[in-house]
Amino acid sequence: MEITKICCIGAGYVGGPTMAVIAQKCPHIQVTVVDLNEQRIKDWNDPNTDNIPIYEPGLAEIVAEARGRNLFFSTEVEKAIDEAQIIFISVNTPTKTYGKGKGMAADLKYIELCARQIAKVAKQNKIVVEKSTLPVRTAEAIKSILDNTGNGVQFQILSNPEFLAEGTAVTDLLNPDRILIGGDTTPEGEIAINALVNVYANWVNRDKILTTNVWSSELSKLTANAFLAQRISSINAMSELCEKTGADVNEVAKAIGMDSRIGPKFLKASVGFGGSCFQKDILNLVYIAKTYGLNEVADYWEQVIIMNDHQKRRFSNKIVQTLYNTVADKKITFLGWAFKKDTNDTRESAAIYVADDLINEQAKISVYDPKVSRNKMLSDLDYLETRSVQENINSLTIFNDAYDACKDSHAIAVLTEWDEFTTYDWQKIYQSMHKPAFVFDGRNILDAKKLESIGFVYKGIGS
Ligand code: UDX
Ligand code: UDX
Ligand code: ADP
Repeated sequence: MEITKICCIGAGYVGGPTMAVIAQKCPHIQVTVVDLNEQRIKDWNDPNTDNIPIYEPGLAEIVAEARGRNLFFSTEVEKAIDEAQIIFISVNTPTKTYGKGKGMAADLKYIELCARQIAKVAKQNKIVVEKSTLPVRTAEAIKSILDNTGNGVQFQILSNPEFLAEGTAVTDLLNPDRILIGGDTTPEGEIAINALVNVYANWVNRDKILTTNVWSSELSKLTANAFLAQRISSINAMSELCEKTGADVNEVAKAIGMDSRIGPKFLKASVGFGGSCFQKDILNLVYIAKTYGLNEVADYWEQVIIMNDHQKRRFSNKIVQTLYNTVADKKITFLGWAFKKDTNDTRESAAIYVADDLINEQAKISVYDPKVSRNKMLSDLDYLETRSVQENINSLTIFNDAYDACKDSHAIAVLTEWDEFTTYDWQKIYQSMHKPAFVFDGRNILDAKKLESIGFVYKGIGS
């Protein structure tokens, strides 16, 4: 089957960059990204590609190259579904906030809506690809919706999980470690798998394209994220022990990372992992395990989340304790709000929880982040529903300039590892602060010795 038209439902952090790269690498395929959110589509179509709604290094250039040629952003969901041979589903699957599985299970209402929409519109056979991270056996649910409300059309459901990390989405998409495609083991399933393999083969070496059954593919995504997050919680657990014993977690990480069985990556101790995937996927895994009565399996993975929550709380506690057990009315400056550098995404960012704790202690928080907007920060806090919207506005001040943000503060907390923080004039910052001037480096990116020689009291993670 020769693919010439692809549609993607959902123009978010996954759908947008993934489709942009497919369009760039496959000029012979027309790629249409649709979303219900009109503003989002308008932003993707902004004549100046620097204003597209998602910040990723290199993305604006790719969109500039492909948009209008074979990459289109539109709100005409039905038209795009009707025309496409392959439909990617990249809508959000947040953790449920209500009902059965509240706080754990994935909320599949957006996925189901997509499936029903596809079923309603499709007049020809289609390949439907799950791109969003989904609980195992979601493909089955999608298939049952499609088969029962469709128009006698044949659907093949593939699982093609996305492994890109935000901040490096473009390079991850251009040079993936692997592409995973799960599908039915029937002849029709194999034809569908091959059609998708051929799309990726336009730029990915075939020996990196892995094909499996649908459930292995779905479970591999959850497993990959659980293993990655587990490494962070493991090193963060050690960071607390290091602080008590006089060991240095950076030295420990280096020493263990040189064991080729362990490897050096994902061993950076931090204020805690964030992002839209890790917590959600592990909670999901825990929920699935419990559903099958596998309580030991569920408890084992839940511990990764418990450790992460502890690490965030431990950071805010350390700030309060160090500032003589009170931060009331003290200005504390956050450098960074995003959940990691090089993204404007803040979902589950540690900064939100640390700010919430400190505001409970009546601190005044000032924030500077190079890419996150004021409204985003405030809505992140409001979402926790700890206090009123007005109280959050009174407690959180957002600056466009890091030096202004730091002026007159009692302490600086580094929440995101943005490169620019290491290049600041720290002498100048020191002079503008109350003394003793404290720095809590939640990412271990600053030069401790240099800061101490200026006069700062420096506290990193795990040393
Ligand atoms: C271990 C450490 O590897 C070594 O660095 C340390 O100095 C001593 O402890 P050892 O116990 O001799 O070495 O063997 P190892 O290869 O680590 O295996 C330990 C156990 O884990 C074995 O029972 C092995 O069968 C099992 N294992 C190992 C698995 O079940 N799965 C694996 O993937 C690897
Ligand atoms: C993750 C997976 O890496 C990706 O494969 C999957 O598709 C989606 O989820 P992402 O959440 O975008 O990607 O970023 P990632 O680089 O994994 O970082 C997640 C969080 O862990 C960030 O808050 C980061 O700061 C933190 N982290 C990462 C650490 O604290 N220490 C580390 O060593 C690595
Ligand atoms: P992710 O990180 O998984 O990409 P995002 O929240 O960034 O998640 O993006 C998901 C997008 O999917 C949102 O822009 C949302 O408006 C869109 N969306 C959700 N449901 C539908 C639907 N039924 N039809 C079209 N778009 C949808």
